[in-house]
Amino acid sequence: MNAIGQPISRADGQLKVTGGARYVADIPVEGVLHAAIVHSIIANGRLVAIDAGKADSASGVVAVLTHKNMPRLDPAPKPSSHLHAWGQSYWPVQDEQIHYAGQPVALVVAGTLDQAAYAGTLIKIEYEAGTPAVFDRETARKQAVDPPQMLWPVTTSTGDAGRAIADAPVKIEQAYTTPDRHHNQMEPHVTTAAWHADGTLTLYDPTQDLAGMRELLSMILGLPMDKIDIVSYFLGGGFGGKSCVWPHTLLAILAARAVGRPVRLQLTRAQMYSMVGHQPASIQTIALGADNDGRLTGIRHESITPTPVFDSYIEYAALASRHLWAASGGIATGHKVVHVNRNTPTPMRAPHEALGHFALESAMDELAYATGIDPVELRLRNDADTDPLSGRPFSTRAMRTCLTEGAARFGWDKRTPEPRSMRDGRYLIGQGMAAAFYTHWRWPAKARVTLNSDGSALVEIATHELGTGTYTVMRQVAADALGLPPEKVTVHLGDTRLPYSHPSIGSSTMANAGAAVLLAARAARDKAITLARAGRDAPFAGAAAGNVLAADGRLMLAGEDLSISYAELLARNGLSALTGEGDYDPVEEENGPKAVFSFSAVFAEVRVDPDLGLVRLNRFTGAYDAGQVINPKTARSQAIGGIIWGTGQALLEQTETDPVLGRFLNRNYSGYLVPANADIPELDVVFTGSFDEEASLTGAKGLGELTAVSVSPAIANAVYHATGKRVRDLPITVEKLL
Ligand code: MOS
Repeated sequence: MNAIGQPISRADGQLKVTGGARYVADIPVEGVLHAAIVHSIIANGRLVAIDAGKADSASGVVAVLTHKNMPRLDPAPKPSSHLHAWGQSYWPVQDEQIHYAGQPVALVVAGTLDQAAYAGTLIKIEYEAGTPAVFDRETARKQAVDPPQMLWPVTTSTGDAGRAIADAPVKIEQAYTTPDRHHNQMEPHVTTAAWHADGTLTLYDPTQDLAGMRELLSMILGLPMDKIDIVSYFLGGGFGGKSCVWPHTLLAILAARAVGRPVRLQLTRAQMYSMVGHQPASIQTIALGADNDGRLTGIRHESITPTPVFDSYIEYAALASRHLWAASGGIATGHKVVHVNRNTPTPMRAPHEALGHFALESAMDELAYATGIDPVELRLRNDADTDPLSGRPFSTRAMRTCLTEGAARFGWDKRTPEPRSMRDGRYLIGQGMAAAFYTHWRWPAKARVTLNSDGSALVEIATHELGTGTYTVMRQVAADALGLPPEKVTVHLGDTRLPYSHPSIGSSTMANAGAAVLLAARAARDKAITLARAGRDAPFAGAAAGNVLAADGRLMLAGEDLSISYAELLARNGLSALTGEGDYDPVEEENGPKAVFSFSAVFAEVRVDPDLGLVRLNRFTGAYDAGQVINPKTARSQAIGGIIWGTGQALLEQTETDPVLGRFLNRNYSGYLVPANADIPELDVVFTGSFDEEASLTGAKGLGELTAVSVSPAIANAVYHATGKRVRDLPITVEKLL
């Protein structure tokens, strides 16, 4: 029986629930000291005086580091590298300038965390404060500037969208806004840095990008890559927030060098708002032109997002309109940024797409009402055979299946379209839907698979376990290629000493790291087949390689009653192990002959209290084309996580900024709402995809982030259906419905 496609439980599940999983802050490091950050209370200005005298002499304090005595980064500040276009380029505690509230201005290193944090309160700082620039929706349009390209082109244009919209019999033009949001991973960011006597550096850091972190640190520390080891066995949530090198990691490294001891620097929950990235707010404008049958003639989508004074991070919200629906007359998209006093934003599940689809799929619902066409039917009419931007055919696009199967499971045909037409007692019932795509990434990765003399196998690859099930699915991929039961396969990941892998971002791990594991497992199996055909006492001497099959830990010859176990084969040849290497080096997606994207259609039912304006999610169906599903159990777990994540975006999450002081205000779980169990009903998930050979050798497309996209417009559209109120500003909170 194949392991791929089986709903196998997590290899690390027991470890996690028993506390045995080693999150990096749990790893003991001999002689470790603890560091606490002192951060700026102003958002713009400079330090004029900093008096660390009392802190220096406080109990347990080993060092107080300010811009006067912090080791210099060379050179500092340095622009972010190609790897970290979405990380922060302003290096910490190197000068007296203040660019954002919460910027680190001093670091105390002490024997315990309490001693360090207390001593930090004894530091006296004088500031010269200027007025902070904050992101203000009223004035953002005036202040917006054209940013340099970050990921994709900043603007795109096919056909003549402006003319198509102007000439269209039906037009929708609206602004949609989304708030700042923070990742709020349960596991805070933490770095333990240990320099060794031979000049090498070991870092324990829950990074989503081992290789990228090592390469960037190598550049800015002037240290060869092979002198840096980074360990990241498990993440307690990444969501994109742990894919860059953030200032606290640099501070831990510099402090450890300064004091000559290992240093652990764990962010407080409050520091998680200003020391690492966030999803920036967006102001989006969508214009749709359509004929009376709802067929799109033109789409225009523009987005403005905030970025710091020293970086140009782009949230590509208008990306949504580049690839989702066909528009006969043309599509125009563009992005602008506003420079303000804040830290650098970063991708957050699902970056770009989840903001943009809120706007586009809300506008499509408005078009459905303007034309009187059912929202599912409207999308079927506008489904694209080729990628609207590049013109390439899609590799696979099960959008129609997502729409029709999702609608059937949800019972969409029982919906009455008029707003406020469905009720349950005193509650208003609303049903809404939306569709989505998610970008596919093709990146290189290497892996090593070793067959051991006891018939077990070891997979080694420097990929990451974000909570998604990487230990489990890599086991399944290797097991099938080797013909081993999955429990015979062990997976080692999360260490730069293992074979190189790409960052675990963009829902890319199964397609790319998975392909490297597949190649390595096949290479190990093929070596075994060669031994069975041409090794010592070869059981299949003279047989063609293509006739040898691997199953149940044995090689066998097709059509013959002849087989040999891996264990026996290795013993017969005097080998303790047999190793295969995998080197996956795909062409980049945009250079491939076909356009590769994941797709979905999602359906939400809400219950709205007409007196209180309170929205509850009643039920939800998600239909997803993510190509081949390797493990339906972990995939379903990804999907329900994404739906819950998107429900937070729709109804609860927003980071607020003080308009005068320029500080993020929430800075705690008590002030930043995310869905809890009681907010979430039973969720219905179905996978409609098939093996996509363009996407990956594993046939898989990205899933994790896809499932967070278009939850918010489905819920917003359901709220409109329930109440007749179109909320174009997330989250949909009580006051917007009263
Ligand atoms: Mo995802 S925001 O690309 O980790």
